[in-house]
Parts: sequence; C-alpha cells; structure tokens
Amino acid sequence: MGAIGKKQKILIVDDAQDTLEVIRRNLVSKGYEIHTAQSVNQAIEVMNNIRIDLVITDLKMPGVGGIELVRFVEENYKDTEIMVITGYASIESAVKAVKIGAEDYLAKPFTDEELFLSVRQALEKLSMRRKVNNLKADYTPLNGIIGNSEIMLNVLNNVRKAAMTQATVIITGESGTGKELIARAIHYNSQRSSSPFVPVNCGAIPEELLESELFGYMKGAFTGAKETRAGFFQTADGGTIFLDEIAETSLSMQVKLLRVLQDKEIYMVGSRVPRKVDIRIIAATNKDLLKLVKKEMFREDLFYRLNVISIELPALKERGDDLLLLINFFVKKYSKEAGKESIVISDNALTILKEYSWPGNVRELENIIQRLVVMTDTDKIEVTDLPIHMRYCLEFKSSCEKTLKEVEREYILNVLSTTNNNKTKASRILGIDRKTLKEKLKEIDENKID
Ligand SMILES: Nc1ncnc2c1ncn2[C@@H]1O[C@H](COP(=O)(O)OP(=O)(O)OP(=O)(O)O)[C@@H](O)[C@H]1O
Ligand SMILES: [Mg+2]
Repeated sequence: MGAIGKKQKILIVDDAQDTLEVIRRNLVSKGYEIHTAQSVNQAIEVMNNIRIDLVITDLKMPGVGGIELVRFVEENYKDTEIMVITGYASIESAVKAVKIGAEDYLAKPFTDEELFLSVRQALEKLSMRRKVNNLKADYTPLNGIIGNSEIMLNVLNNVRKAAMTQATVIITGESGTGKELIARAIHYNSQRSSSPFVPVNCGAIPEELLESELFGYMKGAFTGAKETRAGFFQTADGGTIFLDEIAETSLSMQVKLLRVLQDKEIYMVGSRVPRKVDIRIIAATNKDLLKLVKKEMFREDLFYRLNVISIELPALKERGDDLLLLINFFVKKYSKEAGKESIVISDNALTILKEYSWPGNVRELENIIQRLVVMTDTDKIEVTDLPIHMRYCLEFKSSCEKTLKEVEREYILNVLSTTNNNKTKASRILGIDRKTLKEKLKEIDENKID
C-alpha cells in the first residue's frame, strides 16, 4: 500500500456484474479504493473524473472491447497501469493486449492469491516509475555528482565544507564509488580552482619511479636523468594533488610524504635544497587504513596527518533511490553521446537493475548502461538485453528463497488453473490421488498467504 490515508485507486471493468462484485470485494479487503464500470465507455468516464492507478479490465465485452480500453489508457493516461482478464480461450488476445501496453494478464479462473499478487506487482511497478519521473523533475547535481539520498547529501555537505578549507582530506570507499569525482569537486569548489588538479595513481607507478615522478629530479641524479625535470608536486603548485591508492605506497615513500605534509617542502631527487610548494593534498583509498596501521603497513603519523577531514563514500547499494537517479543520468548521457533519442528501460529490466548487488558500484553501473545504450537497436532496453549474470542472479534468488511447501503450493495452484479446476485431471498430472489433493488444498486454504 502507498502512504497512510492515500489509498491506491483501482478501476475494475467487466460487463458481468457478479465478477465485478467478487473482485471488488476481494480488493476492498486489501485496503484498495475500488471503482467499477460495466463498459468501456463508463470506464473512460470514471477515468476522466478520478485519477486511477490501476485498471483491471475484461477483454470480451459487448460493444467496445477491452483492447480498445488498453489502447485508450496507453495513449491518454501514461501514469496508469492496466491489467487484462481473459477467458481460457482468449490467451491470444491477452498477449495482444500486453503487446500494446497492458502490464499483465490474468487467465480465468484465477485464485484470490493470483489476483492479489498481480495487482501488487502492477502497483509496485507504477510506484517505481513515478519515483523515477519525480526524480527527473527537480534535480541539479553538484559538479556532476548525482546523489539525493540522505547518506549522499551528507557526503556532499562535507564536500562543500572541505572545499572551504585548505585541510588535507582522505576519501575512502569501495572501488567505483566516485572517490576521484569527489576529489575533483573539492578542488573545483575551492579557492584553488583556477590552479591545477593533478591526480596521481600511486598504485600504478613502480616504487622506484614514484619519488622522481612526485618530486622531480636533477640532471645527473641517476642514469638516464639527462635534464632536470619537475614532478607532480611542482606541476600542482598552487593547486591540489590527488594521491589515489595511497595505501599502495611503501613505508619509505610514506616518510617522504609525511615530510611534505609537515614542512610544505619537497626535495627533488638528486638535490639537497628544499623547495617550498603550496599544495593541498587529497588522498584516497579503498582499503581500511586504520587496519593497515594496526598491521604496521601504513604509518600511523601519516594516517593522522591525512585524516584531518575524512569523507567516506557509501557503496552504491546503500544509496537507495540514487540508483534510479544514476540510471537516468547515464541513460540520458549515453543516449545523447550516441546520437540516439530518449532510450527507455522496461519496468522489468529496471527491477533487475534495482535488485542487483553492484559490487563495482557506480563505475559498473555506468559501464553497463553505456553498453546497453550503445548496443540496442530499439528505443527500449528489455530484460533480454541485460548481461546474463545479472538476470541469473535474480532468477536464482527468487526461486531459491522459497520453501518446499511454497513451491508445492504454487505448482498445485498452477496445475489446477491449467486444468480449469478439474481435480481429477489435476491429481493425475500431479501423480497423487484425489484424496491427497483435497487434503493439500485444505492445507493451502488454511495457511492462506498473499
Ligand atoms: N555520484 C556520482 N554521480 C555521477 N557519476 C558518478 C558518481 N560516482 C561515480 N561516478 C562515475 O563513476 C565512475 C567511477 O568514479 P571514480 O573514478 O571517481 O570512482 P573511484 O572511487 O575513484 O573508483 P576506483 O576505486 O575504481 O578508482 C566515473 O566515471 C564517475 O564519473
Ligand atoms: Mg579512482
């Protein structure tokens, strides 16, 4: 259900008064606000007056049929879900209805549970879509950092505060959480913004080269040093140096960095003359530095020097609806880049993206969306377009979280519905006698869940 006091509104359309009444009573018991209509014309009249969330319509009705209603809702009420009910014989028209925009179909006869489940799923999809649209409406990111969740607003607040100071910052977070993006935002919002931002990946530069890369070297300092060359610290003078993967530096390098932090001076390799530099340092790591300190793999004094302001980036999974914002952002960005217009992601595909665990965080999300947008030949991304490991994760999860009883219950109800409730046929398919089937059905009825 939605927010308290705001019942979701369902319109049921069926020419048969008794069917209308049964469905109405069932759904009222679940707390929905129900409206009914006995023809498509009546239904349209209701919709013109009341903002309906979900329409459940019969397909076969005298006069204008349910398919026309599906088309009408699809064209005129984009913010309303529609579900069709179909008799055993007309699955084909139900499929047609789904193709032109119905969310789902229920084949007669259906159980109360099946009805509740379909209704709940349709309304969940609607609420997810509404959320995405609302998020789209009023959102301007700070320096391209997308995030509106409480946890990210807090991070962004700290980014603003950090930008107002000269203090050293340490940014921690799993890989792909946006550490470099945050470092840039601090720099470009600070007084230093017109001076350089120089990123250095400490993990990617071999130990023996790191010192000369960082501090520069004098001509003749080592074989091959044919001329005096400035290092990253001189290049960044007046600006910010971003020491990425700081945990990968050796203990002896850490001593040198500590000295820079303390004295604001560097020694070029091969020189004993200290040189003043005006640098702000921002460091980042995906490791737990304190743990490394305890293991004596990271110097404690350097840790405390760096840790004046600490910004911790949450994993993507912890950012709630930011995921939807980010999906939107990347879809737009890459559609535009690829010269494609407004690519959309189907509700089912979106559900899978929401369920997925995102071990590679925003970077993984960005890469996947980019690939999907570039590869698609249509303007809609479907479940089948998603990488197989994501689809597999979800299927595995949903089918492997059920108890044996639940699977049995679902299967029995399934068989019953395909045999049109014929218990003799059903028990034959199930390989049990009628009496056992009856007992099982009684048990199912007693443990009713929805
Ligand atoms: N909140 C965000 N909003 C928009 N884009 C983001 C956000 N966070 C990360 N990104 C994008 O995701 C990608 C990865 O971000 P970034 O390189 O800053 O992460 P990282 O934490 O440094 O990753 P790694 O540990 O792998 O180096 C970049 O393309 C970045 O622009
Ligand atoms: Mg990085």
